[in-house]
Amino acid sequence: MRTAVLISGRGSNLAALIAACARPGARAEIALVISNRSDAAGLRHARAAGISIATVDHRRFEGREAFDRALSEELDERQIQLVCLAGFMRVLSGWFAERWRDRVLNIHPSLLPAFPGLDTHRRALAAGVRFSGCTVHFVRAEVDAGPIIVQGVVPVRQPDTPERLAARVLQAEHLCYPLALDLVASGRVRVVDEQVLIDGAAAPATILINPEPE
Ligand code: GRF
Repeated sequence: MRTAVLISGRGSNLAALIAACARPGARAEIALVISNRSDAAGLRHARAAGISIATVDHRRFEGREAFDRALSEELDERQIQLVCLAGFMRVLSGWFAERWRDRVLNIHPSLLPAFPGLDTHRRALAAGVRFSGCTVHFVRAEVDAGPIIVQGVVPVRQPDTPERLAARVLQAEHLCYPLALDLVASGRVRVVDEQVLIDGAAAPATILINPEPE
């Protein structure tokens, strides 16, 4: 499946996806990386792997939908079948979510539906949760919502800091995103009544990650 990854920054999830798709038997091919910023640090991973790069600068467009239509055209021109948002810091319009329904994945650094939006790790610690993690889900018009494909769970440590929790969750992200992409690209995922079925079974795959002691 020809897959595009959309980034705005560091690109560590992009690197994990590129590495996973380079393995024998991978069902997804990272055929394109799009950034809304030409200086995104993560683009170096695409360059190192020889993957095509496109920049679609949101500042050149008036309004969200005009930007999204340009993105969609770029994806169509390159015959992209699946899209992974990986630290892409633009909210996509309802139009884009519908046009690419069940073909856009996002990763969020919390166990959704808890803590959508920004500043997740600080908010999770302030709420006193004992576990946090990451969620890979299909994109819908509502931000950080949509059918859940994979979740990875990590413990909160006592004491903890947002930075340390973020690093622990990031380890989980780098396992969960490649797994979710492979499941979708291999045709094993269906969405029925806004629930993800994997091989026809109702439970989304969940990974419990017990990271190395810090
Ligand atoms: C990750 O924490 C991801 O969950 C969130 O943005 C961050 C991107 O990190 N959506 P990176 O650019 O993949 O390193």
